[in-house]
Amino acid sequence: MKPKILIARAIFPEVIAKLAQHFDVTSNQEDVLWTQPEMIEQLAGKQGVFTTGGERIDATLLAQCPQLKICANMAVGYNNFDLDAMSAAGVLATNAPDVLTETTADLGFALLMATARRMAEGEHFLRAGLWTRWRYDMFIGADVHGATLGILGMGRIGQAIARRGAHGFGMKVIYHNRTRLDATTEAECKAAYVGKEELLRTADHLVLVLPYSASSHHAIGAAELAQMKPTATLVNVARGGIVDDAALALALRNRVIAAAGLDVFEGEPKVHPDLLTVPNVVLTPHIGSATLPTRLAMANLAADNLIGYLVHQKPLTPLNPAILAP
Ligand code: DGY
Repeated sequence: MKPKILIARAIFPEVIAKLAQHFDVTSNQEDVLWTQPEMIEQLAGKQGVFTTGGERIDATLLAQCPQLKICANMAVGYNNFDLDAMSAAGVLATNAPDVLTETTADLGFALLMATARRMAEGEHFLRAGLWTRWRYDMFIGADVHGATLGILGMGRIGQAIARRGAHGFGMKVIYHNRTRLDATTEAECKAAYVGKEELLRTADHLVLVLPYSASSHHAIGAAELAQMKPTATLVNVARGGIVDDAALALALRNRVIAAAGLDVFEGEPKVHPDLLTVPNVVLTPHIGSATLPTRLAMANLAADNLIGYLVHQKPLTPLNPAILAP
């Protein structure tokens, strides 16, 4: 008998077909957003679950799903997993790293440029029929080329953004991270390590690419924004909750910083109402990895983790590999 798995959200039909070769699959192509009790009900008898980054896997759920062996996230971020609780329950967690690095860096850089050059503001102005003549100071923005690019969180995506800035736009790149990169990687990214305060004070454009955790909650709040240049821009392509969105909206309204570009939000898909009314912010709905090849690669990697573990006992990208030890 094939092992039973649950696919918690709608995904590519070809990935479901691949999984169906190995498993008895229950899928959610209607894309119903289950509550946790509904998810627990759906998980009855399932050994694996394909999650997409929003489904909370914690001790409450695990206690009621004793047959569960693996949760495979179709996302590099895994703040929907309580990793300690999963390890304690002997449940493997996997994520989908690497395959989305360059695509997410593209979006980060696109947001940086749109923010610096006030593209959303200009578009709204044009669509509203307000463009009647040229003016020397109309939508004056900030240069990207040659400016100082600050990166907070220098993992794979941070490094890919650094390479774009340094090699493509002649930017001076500075970064802050929990651990400093080795000299070879720093040289490849042309990036210099600085303290967080110097990063905030010096960057013309600051991009956030750090993982969300209790320690990165509100890493950028009113105090940090006050340290930034009034001409600076801020981009968040990491996770909601890293920025205090209420404080950011206020800082944007009061021109504490010049502008922001946000792909992620605290409590998304809800967006802080003040962010919807300040003009100097570019907003996108968490689409960092949203290209067809990348989303397919992410879905396939999550599927391959399920097959790798439940069929061959060899997951590809385990997050808590200690539970695999014999
Ligand atoms: C991720 O993989 O963590 C991205 O945010 C896309 O969801």
